[in-house]
Amino acid sequence: MATPHIEAKRGDIAETILLPGDPLRARQIAMELLTDAQPFNQVRNMLGFTGYYQGKRVSVMGTGMGMPSMGIYSSELIQFYGVKQLIRIGTAGALQGHLHIRDVVLAQAASTDSNYPSQFGLSGHISATPDFSLLRQAALLAEKMGIQYHAGTVVSSDVFYHMDPDQWKKWQKTGALCIEMEAYALYQNARMGGVKALAMNVISDSLVTGEQLSAAERQDSFRDLARIALELIDYEGSSS
Ligand code: HPA
Repeated sequence: MATPHIEAKRGDIAETILLPGDPLRARQIAMELLTDAQPFNQVRNMLGFTGYYQGKRVSVMGTGMGMPSMGIYSSELIQFYGVKQLIRIGTAGALQGHLHIRDVVLAQAASTDSNYPSQFGLSGHISATPDFSLLRQAALLAEKMGIQYHAGTVVSSDVFYHMDPDQWKKWQKTGALCIEMEAYALYQNARMGGVKALAMNVISDSLVTGEQLSAAERQDSFRDLARIALELIDYEGSSS
C-alpha cells in the first residue's frame, strides 16, 4: 500500500521528518548525519530515507518547490503515514536589511500571496503558524549552539520570478523577515491534521543587498539547520 506520490509502506516513515526542498539535500543529510539510513521513496526522484540520529528514529525527504508540491507531500505524510512532527529546512530571501546571509529564520507565522487557503472555504484570512513548543525549543537550541537566528513572519509566495521586480518591497513594509515558497502550506496542513510543524529557513540571498550564499556556504548553513532540527526529534513539549 502506498500513496500516489510516496511508495513507502506504512511504518517505513518515522514520526519526525525533516523536509528540505531538494531531494538531493535529503539524501546528503541521510548519508552524513544519520546511521543505518534506508531509502523509502524514489517516486519522481523525491528521495526519502529513514535512519537514526543518536539512536532516535527520524526520516528526511525532499518536498520539491512551492506550495502545491509541499501540500501534496505533507498531506500524504500526515494523513497516510501518521507523521507527527514535520520540520522544514529550507532557504529564503531576506526582505529586511538587518538579516544577513546564513542567518536562520524561525517562521513564527507565514503570510501568503497564494490561493492555497481558498480550499478551506472561509471568507476571512487564515493565519498559518507553527507549533509553539517546536518554535520555542528551536530558538533555545539555536541560542545554545551559537547560531544567529531571528523569529518572525515569513512570506510564502507562489511566484519566484515576479512580473514586478519591486513587488517584494510591499511585503517588506508589512514587516515580514524573508520570502520563501512552502511554509504556509506546511503549517496549515499540520494544523488541519492536528500535528506539529516548524519551518526553519537559512537566508540564501538578500533582496535588499543582492548578496548571495556561495555553494560551499549553502552546504554549511544547511548543516546548521539540520543540527537544530535533529535535536528536536524527540522533544515532547506541550502543543500550542
Ligand atoms: N524568493 C522565494 N523563495 C526563495 C528566495 C526568494 O528570493 N530565496 C530563497 N528561496
